[in-house]
Amino acid sequence: MSYLKEITQEVLKHADIVKIVGSYLPLVKKGKDYKAICPFHDDTNPSLSVSPDRQFFKCFVCNTGGNAISFVQKYEHCTYIEAVRKVADLAGYHPEGLDSFKEKKPTDERREAILKCLYDLNLYYQFALGAPEGKDGLDYLESRHLDASMRSKYKLGYAYKDGKSTINFLQKKGHSIKTIEDTGIAKMLSPGNYADMNEGRVTFPICDADGNVIGFSARRIRPGDEAKYMNTPETYLFHKTNVLYNYHIAKDVARHKGYIYVCEGFMDVFALSRIGIDAAVAIMGTALTNEHISLLRSLNVQVRLCLDGDLPGQSAMMKISNQFAKNGVNFMVVDNQGSSKDPDEILNQDGKEALEAYLNKLISRVDFALNYYLRSNPLTTVEEKKKLVKDFIPVLARINSQLELDSYLRKLERITGFEIDSIRKLVEEYRLHGSDTQFISKRMREFHPERKALERLVTAERELLYQMMGHELAIAYYEQRVGVFYDDIYRKIANYLIAYNEKYHNLDLSGLLSEIEVSDEENKDEIVIEVTDIAEEDFHPTDCTDELLINICDTIDEEKRRINEEDSLNDSLKGKDELEKARIIADYNRRKAMKK
Ligand code: UTP
Ligand code: MN
Repeated sequence: MSYLKEITQEVLKHADIVKIVGSYLPLVKKGKDYKAICPFHDDTNPSLSVSPDRQFFKCFVCNTGGNAISFVQKYEHCTYIEAVRKVADLAGYHPEGLDSFKEKKPTDERREAILKCLYDLNLYYQFALGAPEGKDGLDYLESRHLDASMRSKYKLGYAYKDGKSTINFLQKKGHSIKTIEDTGIAKMLSPGNYADMNEGRVTFPICDADGNVIGFSARRIRPGDEAKYMNTPETYLFHKTNVLYNYHIAKDVARHKGYIYVCEGFMDVFALSRIGIDAAVAIMGTALTNEHISLLRSLNVQVRLCLDGDLPGQSAMMKISNQFAKNGVNFMVVDNQGSSKDPDEILNQDGKEALEAYLNKLISRVDFALNYYLRSNPLTTVEEKKKLVKDFIPVLARINSQLELDSYLRKLERITGFEIDSIRKLVEEYRLHGSDTQFISKRMREFHPERKALERLVTAERELLYQMMGHELAIAYYEQRVGVFYDDIYRKIANYLIAYNEKYHNLDLSGLLSEIEVSDEENKDEIVIEVTDIAEEDFHPTDCTDELLINICDTIDEEKRRINEEDSLNDSLKGKDELEKARIIADYNRRKAMKK
């Protein structure tokens, strides 16, 4: 056994796999083992199992498995020795001699050549800002409040308008045309004739996690038709989707501060830096990738999502917060509080304190999702409220803390007026059967929390609807005495029935159903299910007499009146103090007692 193997064995003896994996993923104990969402494939159910007894992990879907070291190596995409060191650190056991093992990385000559070329190029761009020909660039950066210290911190520069001079400079520095092409900044004018694609723009170098320049983004300095930012295309070194702008500076500060802000663009990172917040990165306007998630999660700090306040920014945040939640990222969302600005605009228009206040208004993903939903969906009818509950069941089901769940259930109860227990029951069912989509959608259809308070009214309406499906007399009663049903779905069914009967002069159920099927009704599935459910009920009176119909219509009248009174009572209580409220309620009860 070699020395490295012995040391590795020592490290493994001191490292509990539950603790190691648990520092990357949230683990939930199930029997003897622990379960987690597998990070090695696109997992939705917890398919990764961690065994404390046998000290290994295994995903039963993608089959990835191994010990604590292989987990870290796979998760961090690092070398074996780096993984041993990480595990040793996480276990708090760092044997002497471990550091003496150096990874024998083969030098990648192509990579080295490109890095050197980009390094020289960036110095050239930075130098150009101070030259007379670079005045436009300097003026532009000044106009964006990027002073000398900001320019040097972020190594901002300018690419001369004459793009050929850049290529000449690089060649004079000894870089081959092949290497210059490899950097991605050269555009070919004609065979053998190249120019700088960033010409006439200010330049922002983009670095890897170690601070090496691997690409550029170059901003136009006047409004114009061409792209606002010109980015280095995909190259041997530069993969825009794997990079977080400013990660190399932000990562250490973030570990120290315990948080990191994720913004949309360069200017936002600069704005945060201008008010002293260096723990900030930008996704550069792209979608969030798994690589981004790994980079953020490996910091082990709170991620603070802060995209632009406008609609595209907010809807991207919605998407990203779902990705974060699915991947067990510890994060909060910066609440835009109705503003559509980005951090850079807030700082320039409203000042430092305003931006500080903005960045400190952190809300949970559930609150964010709720605000977002309420801003973009109507919420007046019972159907709309039910849709809200249905959309939020999966979100609520992912909440681990009972206390937190309770507070959101109460919030939903306040917003919808539905009973808290019926919402809670759905959450519990979703937790047990979430993967059985058929079962869940059936239970969602059966979710009628509003029925409790309205039971008598809804039963009467359902009774009348049943009669209307077989008797024109019942339809006549509906039209003359009821007018419209209180229940949205029943009202729609009644309208279909009436229209069908007028058109075909019969009440053939299968004909009615196909009429609904071909309509462009939004919730026709639900309507079809209700029609067949009601038609199948066998407890309704078979004799459809005037007496029966009068009775039903009386009940509907009575219940509607009661609900109206309660509604107006509630309205009249709004904004009143407790004493006044007591007086109004006593009054209401007295009037009600007199009527009886
Ligand atoms: P924004 O349009 O919000 O830019 O795009 P910004 O950061 O606020 O910049 P200013 O204030 O208009 O100068 C957000 C990010 O999307 C990427 C950039 O990374 C930008 O910072 N982007 C945007 C591009 O890559 N290309 C574009 O043409 C536009
Ligand atoms: Mn912007």
